[in-house]
Amino acid sequence: MLQGRRILLVIAGGIAAYKSLELVRRLRERGATVRCILTRAAQEFVTPLSVSTLSRERVFTDLFSLTDEHEIGHIRLARDCDLVVVAPATADLVTKAALGIADDLASTVLLATDRPLLLAPAMNHVMWSAASTQTNIATLVARGATLAGPNAGPLAEGETGIGRMAEPHEILAAIEALLGGPGPLAGLHALVTSGPTHEPIDPVRYIANRSSGKQGHAIAAALAAAGARTTLVSGPTRLADTQGVAVLHVETAAQMLAACEAALPADIAVCAAAVADWRVATAATQKLKKTGDAPAPVLQLAPNPDILATLARHARHRPRLVVGFAAETEDLIAHARAKLAKKGCDWILANDVSPGTGIFGGDANTVHVVDAAGVEPWPPLSKDEVARRLAARIATALGRS
Ligand code: PMT
Repeated sequence: MLQGRRILLVIAGGIAAYKSLELVRRLRERGATVRCILTRAAQEFVTPLSVSTLSRERVFTDLFSLTDEHEIGHIRLARDCDLVVVAPATADLVTKAALGIADDLASTVLLATDRPLLLAPAMNHVMWSAASTQTNIATLVARGATLAGPNAGPLAEGETGIGRMAEPHEILAAIEALLGGPGPLAGLHALVTSGPTHEPIDPVRYIANRSSGKQGHAIAAALAAAGARTTLVSGPTRLADTQGVAVLHVETAAQMLAACEAALPADIAVCAAAVADWRVATAATQKLKKTGDAPAPVLQLAPNPDILATLARHARHRPRLVVGFAAETEDLIAHARAKLAKKGCDWILANDVSPGTGIFGGDANTVHVVDAAGVEPWPPLSKDEVARRLAARIATALGRS
């Protein structure tokens, strides 16, 4: 997707700099050329050697290096690229860029560039919400800069809040959205469900499952990267909202179905959520109490709506392609075939979620694609790679590859 694209990556001095190494690796995997500038502070966190080993390019660190200036010069460095990415974008470098301060190579290049700019801010949450930072960010955005993140969550210093650098795959998605061209799924709307559902027992307890949302969120990111306008309906997860995707947050299966129905029409639906099959028929309105020796309460369950089957059999707005998952612990293919028929979808991605496989919550997955033509086993892959392959298979099936 980024074949032949030239990225200038400015790595500033923050603990998140280690994630930029992964970003360099992923950019190169997609065919981009990556030149990197490391600020002096960044070199306290990652070394020029590790960056140049991954980028396979020389790394630039010094505005006053005669060799650097002789070989390329900071003005050419600033212009000889399709996109400038700053990751991590520290409060210090954001401020310099907004004010036009040029006192080292990174800030000088940011002043000298006429290329699109993508910032992945990373800093303490109080620094992020400081009025000066917000003003400087707003200034840069008003001048045309794009933001990836920052995300909310635990920060390196032990505090929690908004300030975590976006994950490499999120920055990559933002880069692909800026540079990747229209993509094979351009003009199509994709609807993805992800994560678990929480079915309340009472105001403080709920029934849930072990889904992390990683697989569903990765699919939404891959479909968006392939150019689809993507709506992600997510149950409760710890994941940050996927960049470039409209995210609808829900808790229960009933809410998930309502959000999906509201998002229709869609051309593509991928149901990766682990939806609870049952809910408590009548959730208690007050916290259930343990009283003396009274017997433990018995929960009366009621079936939840089947979102995948509803979309696959939708009378007015059936998506052109409806894809479900089958999470099984035995007879994987037989159960997947039965679900394909019962739910009326076009493909089922069957994954064995037996204890020990690590698929629930893990970063890898092994799927078999089951459709009317047969069974296609995929090798063990990262969830991101499963998502990319699925997006490519969808593009082929819809005649878009
Ligand atoms: O979230 P991760 O930690 O990354 O893990 C990924 C995953 C294992 C959750 C994912 O790969 C997966 O298998 N998702 C489907 C889980 C599931 O609920 O499977 P199922 O066999 O119970 O359901 C079959 C299909 O019907 C699924 O597409 C499911 O989304 C859908 N369904 C099920 C019940 C229901 N009430 N509504 C539904 O839409």
